[in-house]
Amino acid sequence: MTPFEAPSAARPVVGWWRDAVVYEVYPRSFADSNGDGVGDLEGVRHHLDHLDALGIDAIWLSPFYMSPLADGGYDVADHRDVDPLLGTLDGFDALVADAHARQIRIIVDIVANHTSDRHPWFQDALAAGRGSAARDRYIFRDGDGERPPSDWRSHFGGGAWQRVADGQWYCHLFTREQPDLNWDHDEVRQYFLDTLRFWADRGVDGFRVDMAHTLVKDLAAPLRSQPDLDLHLPLDGSDPLYDRDGVHVVYEGWRRVFDEYDPPRAAVAETWYPTNARTYLYARPSELGQVFDFSLQQCAWDRDQFVAAIRRSLDDHRIAGGGLTWVLSSHDAVRHPSRLALPVAVRPDAWLLSNGTAPHIDPQLAARRGRAATLMMLALPGSAYLYQGEELGLLEVADLSPSSVHDPTWERSGHTVRGRDGCRVPLPWTRAGTSFGFGAGGSWLPQPATWGACSVEAQTGVIGSSLEMYRAALHLRRRLQVADDEVEWQDSGVGIVHFRRANGWECIVNMTAEPVRVAASQVLISSRRLDGGLLPCDAAAWTHAG
Ligand code: GLC
Repeated sequence: MTPFEAPSAARPVVGWWRDAVVYEVYPRSFADSNGDGVGDLEGVRHHLDHLDALGIDAIWLSPFYMSPLADGGYDVADHRDVDPLLGTLDGFDALVADAHARQIRIIVDIVANHTSDRHPWFQDALAAGRGSAARDRYIFRDGDGERPPSDWRSHFGGGAWQRVADGQWYCHLFTREQPDLNWDHDEVRQYFLDTLRFWADRGVDGFRVDMAHTLVKDLAAPLRSQPDLDLHLPLDGSDPLYDRDGVHVVYEGWRRVFDEYDPPRAAVAETWYPTNARTYLYARPSELGQVFDFSLQQCAWDRDQFVAAIRRSLDDHRIAGGGLTWVLSSHDAVRHPSRLALPVAVRPDAWLLSNGTAPHIDPQLAARRGRAATLMMLALPGSAYLYQGEELGLLEVADLSPSSVHDPTWERSGHTVRGRDGCRVPLPWTRAGTSFGFGAGGSWLPQPATWGACSVEAQTGVIGSSLEMYRAALHLRRRLQVADDEVEWQDSGVGIVHFRRANGWECIVNMTAEPVRVAASQVLISSRRLDGGLLPCDAAAWTHAG
């Protein structure tokens, strides 16, 4: 494998991830090189120049493994091979080599809570029958008469147990095509250590650990009841399924594997509960090093909400001594410009929950707030995760017809949860042409007719465009980012987020309805043009005191 070349002085190898800007590629929707309507790894390779010019440090590739696509690739049938729809292992190696040649690192997804029901292990478990060693790799149980073994619920709606032909049930926290693995089983633990080595040997620089907090469950008989989870309350370690203390032993083992490599491989945990000090335990240097902090995704366009969330995360992360991360958008969330244009009283996940009627938003307002929030996030200490298309200012696609919806949540929720397709619509690359340059054969989800105007081609070189703002901000950030994690809050009045970093770099965000005076000698960048020293509403600026 091509070893990662020593990066320039601007990007030190040791702990590169601590302040990295990582760009999530959802491969099926990024670019399609062979005209079959589905994005692929070769499509990513063809567009590395775009990512290089953008100024990112790493790409996180969402799953590209063998998958029957019951959950957009998060149902993995072979963790060590590329799905033929998306490419080949040789193609993957070429992508890693070409990314490394541009000093862009590659992070891959590890989906360890469950496999696909087509995984050979699960097929064996079905064939081998009750009481077999093959069933022991999963969570098979007898029911209570005709009832499932416990009241556990699936994230995508409905119960978390599926009955098989011989009457036993198996647990699935997601779709029934995603049976949960038994992490009390040595073979399961070893399989994932080997999988990490498989990809690390191929040159990947890091791992994004899917549902990191669910692997270890309390499986002692009788199975404990699942408490009524309030998604807005942090966990405390007492739930039988989530965030159990034992899971940290797994990640200590993974860290030992990461440290076999030079440089050590990086990792980021995904945990889906409101961030608290426990969340950051996954980021301890003895474990994964980073955990997604999703708290910005919970904030409406409200100064106090953002400041409270940032303060809390800064405090919580210090306890664990690991990395700090920020996320505004991802393949699981409503695109942040759309979300931030919702009235403060509306839940930020309202879109996902709505049964087909999207809340109305003003697209101009969404564009302004989305860019301002991005400048705010990029000025914070730590690492920032971007999601493909956010550099283009794409909004959530709100009017996908039920017949084009792919997300399993739509069916499993009995058509009450709309799902995540609205942020997964294939990217527009060109002003015109079939699927706006996504590929020659159309796109697997329909793109809005207006998307040519948001394309990379339409925005390149256009001052004031979203793309040029992202490029300028990312390049500036490389110069400005300091290792110091301190944020000094400035009191600039009601509705104004204003903080200063150790080197005098300041970020001011105007969340009021009026323009606000910026008292700084130097404005480095702003999301809307300043007028006579006034920062318009719904805008952010970076300044320097010096
Ligand atoms: C994670 C992924 C999500 C997937 C789920 C099940 O939350 O980000 O897309 O559906 O895990 O693997």
